[in-house]
Amino acid sequence: MEINSARVPQDGLRLRLVGSGETPDPELFLSEEELDKAASFRTEKRRREWTGGRYAAKSLISEALAPGASLRDIAIDYDHMGRPVWRDRGRTRLLSITHSGPFCAAACAGPSAVFLGIDIERIEPRAEAWYKDYFTRGELDREPGTLRQDALATRLWTQKEALLKALGLGLKADPLDIDLSGENPVFLRMAAARYAELGKPRFRLRTLECGPDHSLSLAWQILEGNDGF
Ligand SMILES: CC(C)(COP(=O)(O)OP(=O)(O)OC[C@H]1O[C@@H](n2cnc3c(N)ncnc32)[C@H](O)[C@@H]1OP(=O)(O)O)[C@@H](O)C(=O)NCCC(=O)NCCS
Repeated sequence: MEINSARVPQDGLRLRLVGSGETPDPELFLSEEELDKAASFRTEKRRREWTGGRYAAKSLISEALAPGASLRDIAIDYDHMGRPVWRDRGRTRLLSITHSGPFCAAACAGPSAVFLGIDIERIEPRAEAWYKDYFTRGELDREPGTLRQDALATRLWTQKEALLKALGLGLKADPLDIDLSGENPVFLRMAAARYAELGKPRFRLRTLECGPDHSLSLAWQILEGNDGF
């Protein structure tokens, strides 16, 4: 599936994936205030990721929501849960941003969606402790023989993090607070409390492969009339 600038063909979702070589000079798309913020990051890696995430989000907005708008005038903000949003003339549009290695990605939800999370991670060999700390045996044994263990666990990780971002928690909650061993996710402890607080929205999950070694998942709210969990 071609995902760059593509519309994910479900529920009005849009996704933009940007590779490291694609980000132009920050002066061309960051406002003065944003350039100051970028300069304040202590590490080059964080500055590059934050800047790339802004470019992915701004170019997505200018393409999907505000055709013709100057990228420098599109301001990305955060809501009270820390989720990125775009506010424009009294309307707030929910976004989600992720970065990993050579990629930055941003997604925006349809006009009435209020829950959205995306996460991208590199598939790579991990220490045994990583599998033990973040996944249950039931999750890792869910699809025996279909995927290498590192690919399966990375896909599960991105799904958990996408759901935790959609809940506005990020990694404030433990990835084990989401159990993906069954057909539908089960929310536990902090994630269960937030899920209940938010009215138990019905989520859909989708995972896309990006290049040979990255996995990207999206979690979003099912809009009226669709099936979800
Ligand atoms: C948000 C978080 C999940 C990001 O994890 P990550 O894999 O390092 O980073 P990703 O690139 O996938 O995502 C980063 C983006 O998530 C978004 N984000 C941050 N907090 C968020 C929240 N509460 N809900 C939804 N999205 C959030 C931001 O847009 C951020 O990008 P930006 O800073 O460029 O705007 C994680 O950093 C977090 O939860 N931090 C807060 C808790 C914490 O510090 N825990 C420390 C133990 S790890």
